[in-house]
Amino acid sequence: MKDAAPQTIYLKDYTPFGFIVDSVALTFRLHPTATRVLSTIRFRPNPDATDNRFFLHGEQLTLISAKINGTDVTTRTVEGGIEADVPNAPFTWEAEVEINPQANTALEGLYMSNGMYCTQCEAEGFRKITYYPDRPDVMSTFDLRIEADGDNTPVMLSNGNGAESGAGFANWTDPWPKPAYLFALVAGDLIAHEDSFTTMSGKPVKLAIWVRPGDEHKCAFGMEALKKSMTWDEEVYGREYDLDEFNIVAVDDFNMGAMENKGLNIFNSSCVLASPETATDGNFERIEAIIAHEYFHNWTGNRITCRDWFQLCLKEGLTVFRDAQFTADMRSEPVKRIDDVIALRARQFPEDQGPLSHPVRPESFQEINNFYTATVYEKGAEVIGMLKTLVGDEAYAKALDLYFDRHDGQACTIEDWIQVFEDSTGRDLSQFKLWYSQSGTPEVTVREEYEGDTFTLHLSQKSAPTPGQDQKAPQVIPVAVGLLNDNGDEVLPTQVLELTETEQSFTFPGHATRPIPSILRGFSAPVTLTHDIDNDRRAFLLAHDTDAFNRWEAGRDLARDSLLKAIQQGEAPSAAYLDGLKALLRDDSLDPAYRALMLGQPSQSELAATLHKMGETPDPAAIHAASEALREAKAQSFAELLPALYAANQVEGPYRPDAGPAGQRSLANAALSLLTRLDGGETAAKQFDAADNMTLQLSALGALLDAAKGEDALSAFYDQWQNDRLVIDKWFSMQIMQAKPENVATTAQAFTQHADFDWKNPNRFRAVMGVLAMHHAGFHFEDGAGYTLLADWLIKLDPVNPQTTARMCSAFQTWKRYDETRQGKIRTELERIAGQDGLSRDTTEMVTRILNA
Ligand code: PHE
Ligand code: ZN
Repeated sequence: MKDAAPQTIYLKDYTPFGFIVDSVALTFRLHPTATRVLSTIRFRPNPDATDNRFFLHGEQLTLISAKINGTDVTTRTVEGGIEADVPNAPFTWEAEVEINPQANTALEGLYMSNGMYCTQCEAEGFRKITYYPDRPDVMSTFDLRIEADGDNTPVMLSNGNGAESGAGFANWTDPWPKPAYLFALVAGDLIAHEDSFTTMSGKPVKLAIWVRPGDEHKCAFGMEALKKSMTWDEEVYGREYDLDEFNIVAVDDFNMGAMENKGLNIFNSSCVLASPETATDGNFERIEAIIAHEYFHNWTGNRITCRDWFQLCLKEGLTVFRDAQFTADMRSEPVKRIDDVIALRARQFPEDQGPLSHPVRPESFQEINNFYTATVYEKGAEVIGMLKTLVGDEAYAKALDLYFDRHDGQACTIEDWIQVFEDSTGRDLSQFKLWYSQSGTPEVTVREEYEGDTFTLHLSQKSAPTPGQDQKAPQVIPVAVGLLNDNGDEVLPTQVLELTETEQSFTFPGHATRPIPSILRGFSAPVTLTHDIDNDRRAFLLAHDTDAFNRWEAGRDLARDSLLKAIQQGEAPSAAYLDGLKALLRDDSLDPAYRALMLGQPSQSELAATLHKMGETPDPAAIHAASEALREAKAQSFAELLPALYAANQVEGPYRPDAGPAGQRSLANAALSLLTRLDGGETAAKQFDAADNMTLQLSALGALLDAAKGEDALSAFYDQWQNDRLVIDKWFSMQIMQAKPENVATTAQAFTQHADFDWKNPNRFRAVMGVLAMHHAGFHFEDGAGYTLLADWLIKLDPVNPQTTARMCSAFQTWKRYDETRQGKIRTELERIAGQDGLSRDTTEMVTRILNA
């Protein structure tokens, strides 16, 4: 049976809830298939509300009893919950419901993962736990009692501070009013890695990372990251932790990365567990960032939360921005910036330039889970960065103080956020606010002029139509610019031009010789830049730009130009690019991590997007061939340099995940992957055999697979790690990543038959299906087998886990870039998915939006 057409929810329809919740007390009687949840909730009429209908959300609940002020009450079942007649005065609601955690494969609400009870309530999961006004503007303190069979669940955790506990029960109390989406409960056989922290005002906090027995040696790094985050937030934002304890739990089955539940953060085990043997440098860095992200939410998200889900970027954009600042401080600022821009271009740009494009603050949705997107998170963070650039560091700090002061304990909107900046700086930010409401990536075009001794930059902006938005107004775009002379000296240090009109000119007088501009330094705005310059100029900037980001960008532009000319005209790889890059690789004064990034080149998917923008139809096979040829050319032209680069970046001594040694390993491994083309895998095989950490082991495996010499290493790797879920995820992914395009779908298909393909585990599903979709030439291989395979599995997963299914539909979002044959094949698959009986609301919305491209 096909469900009724999903309802669309609009920002403009917001109304406050008719009641205020003064307190919540919950008792959980845990049972794998029949958990009882007893709730006692004190309500009173909300004087600010116009609609006093008493409606409580509830889904998949069996109501056992409901009382108001101690008397049984008749409830009416309505769409998405229940209604009841209530007194026009304060009253107490008591209910008992039964739920089935074991049957909950969607991983939303209360579910079980490897015998452990676990919750996930953001965004609208609490309604699967009990009847409640499950909306972020309803905030309350929570008191909790957890009861369970003490043998199987010795550890029982919830938000706030632990109160009394004993055999088979534990009480918790959270004194900070919070929305239900921050509720969490965990119970099971867990072991703690413990530590402590003293806050800036001298308050002691008990810290613990809880894991399954056997994983306790993988917690030390996460704990250090947590303490660093706590210190950093005190020092940089003046924010202190506010409970007696802070707990983190690792779970294997989780739809997302991690969740900031008050005092009880729950993490996908891939985002917290790390040991040198099992986690790569990239994993370590990511773990540090996610621990920081979730911790920072304590203030930006929890103490100040969102009025409604349209305001998601209020907490997410700001918290991503904060965690990026943290990583830049802990590691290298330019490297972090480049990493983030690569990610933005890979994930946010395609979203913003395709059928799923939506504003940073969306105005409507059917399923909010579909809006935890790169646009809300990453573009949301870019918007905060631009605001900081425009007002300056000091004014930003002052505004943030005012924000915390004014809004602590509230559920806020983007209007509140902007108002804080207007009040503290006196600036009119009405045009800036368009960044929150206009979707799409603005395109900035630059033209240079030099006359007399005046240099002029003519800037213009435009923005292509996006779904629901045909016309766009000009936005405020901070364009950071510096000027160089012919020797590469900076004759004008970085300054920020504010482009606010469709066309605007900026003059720089007093330049006796023509200066060379470096534009959009540090990627000062999330835009695309069109600047008609030749490769000599790019090579000059690659050699001399004093802005680390733009220097990298110049290399990127040269690489892109070389690749496009290879694809379009069959030209050989650009000598200017290869020579410039070689000089840079030889420069030992440059950070190895930075040089490793320099060795990279635009992804195949990015090239496809570029060709599409140029009005051409990208051919995935041709793009793949050109990309491989450029790598081959690098191997050949750096043949003498590579062994030295590799040798010079071997790290002595015990493994440390810090930026320094990690950067050296990334350069050595980038060199290794090219070197393998020259030595047939000899060096890689040695590295594989000698490796005492996952960074070296996995990159050697990748290089060997690329050289088709990976068979032995693959089975050795499997034998060594077959009992480690997170490492086996890597074993699956790496084989797909390194497969030849024509073998990608068959490889992935074969994995679906593998005994370890536990497809209900989101990490494992993504390790195979997610990586299939990311292999550009393989996924888009002409036979369309990749499309069919992915669609088959999305159809299979949807009834089990709609959230993860819906997210992965975005693999098809770029379909209109490709030729008619491929488009036809993709359309067939999308329509096949859309036609499934009982398709989830999540997946229905995604497929419909993509099909409407
Ligand atoms: N709020 C979580 C985070 O950023 C992400 C998340 C969303 C997790 C929804 C689970 C469900 O930081
Ligand atoms: Zn977040």
